[in-house]
Amino acid sequence: MSETKPQSGLDGVVAAETRVSDVDGLGGKLTIAGFAVEEFAPNATFEETVYLLWNDRLPEAAELAEFSRALAERRTIPEITVEVLKAAADRRVPAMDALRMAASTLSLETSVPSESEDIPHAEALDIVAQFPTIVAAYWRLRNGEKLVAPRRDLNHAANFLYMLTGEVPGAQRARSLETYINSVVDHGLNASTFTARVIISTQSDLVSAIVGAVGALKGPLHGGAPAPALDMVFAIGTEEHAEPYLRAALERGERLMGFGHRIYKVRDPRASVLAVAAEQFYLSEGDRKLYDLALHVESTAVRLLEEYKPGRRLQTNVEFYTALLLHGLGLPSDLFTATFAVGRVVGWLAHCFEQKNLNRLIRPQSVYVGDRDRKWIALDQR
Ligand code: ACO
Repeated sequence: MSETKPQSGLDGVVAAETRVSDVDGLGGKLTIAGFAVEEFAPNATFEETVYLLWNDRLPEAAELAEFSRALAERRTIPEITVEVLKAAADRRVPAMDALRMAASTLSLETSVPSESEDIPHAEALDIVAQFPTIVAAYWRLRNGEKLVAPRRDLNHAANFLYMLTGEVPGAQRARSLETYINSVVDHGLNASTFTARVIISTQSDLVSAIVGAVGALKGPLHGGAPAPALDMVFAIGTEEHAEPYLRAALERGERLMGFGHRIYKVRDPRASVLAVAAEQFYLSEGDRKLYDLALHVESTAVRLLEEYKPGRRLQTNVEFYTALLLHGLGLPSDLFTATFAVGRVVGWLAHCFEQKNLNRLIRPQSVYVGDRDRKWIALDQR
């Protein structure tokens, strides 16, 4: 038998070179296409973000205008996609399942650029443009509301909120959402990004890679944590309940959602960016008491995690402040992970382009630990 030991969970295994993002888990630094996340997320429009990740440089004004136009005109989802969403809404499936099912229909009607148009990444633009439309349409269908058609005059983030609510959001709301989707746009070789790269490495197509990535993101150990994190804050209710509640959960051996990370052993820098965005938002138009309670829950949780898991360095991750910010923006918790996907899909696609250029099948090995040389036993003799 081989002497090689498998690396459980692939911790520390380097499986790709990338220019999209870099995660420094010990330093607590996230670099996205050369920018520190704190520098980039609150300043970039999402259109600039997409351009940056796919071209490895910021667009000039004319390029940005053309790129934004190309993205905005692709927002309408095919009728067949709406039909799938209706069926999903009738069955009240979770939003991430609806997104996965609807995303796979996008390969039925990919836009072919006209000869006068020179649009690289046209299929990827379709996917990015239509993710928010899918999520908003699903939510309205599930609530028995009429669909709101996308508006080309709004930017990506503002239009998403508009399609969800039917109202054009104020500048601060749109900016807060934009900061959020920027901050989660890419994050090294996380599980969903790796999934996308594995799929595209077989020379499969972009829609297949994105559908697989949505499936990976759905799980509570990856993108599915913000709703439970918010539920926890609501269940705690008041500052004096925080310690007994969290202590009891840790005594039962439960994991506190929104804390801990495979890579970060200090506070997730995205949590810091989103904490600033949440503070600005809650101080001007949100429920200030909820914000204060969340801060108290955070500090209590970090203290108790050090007590119960000494040396593990379990700190606040991105999901805790995601929950607080998205809730403040009026998004239902059922849509938190799907909204994460609205941002992250851009990173998945950027990695797909890198992997396609590399053109090398990802194919690791396993260590066989089963029996050998078994003898076949006929069915009537087992
Ligand atoms: N609450 C309580 N204990 C925890 C937590 C937590 N949030 N996270 C880790 N631990 C414990 C583990 O139980 C383990 O304890 P043990 O050594 O006594 O068995 C120890 O800390 C080390 O944990 P690992 O499982 O090795 O950490 P891993 O790197 O595999 O897990 C993960 C990272 C999955 C994020 C984990 O911290 C977790 O489950 N957190 C809660 C869910 C969450 O917030 N997910 C969102 C992650 S961010 C993102 O993906 C976008």
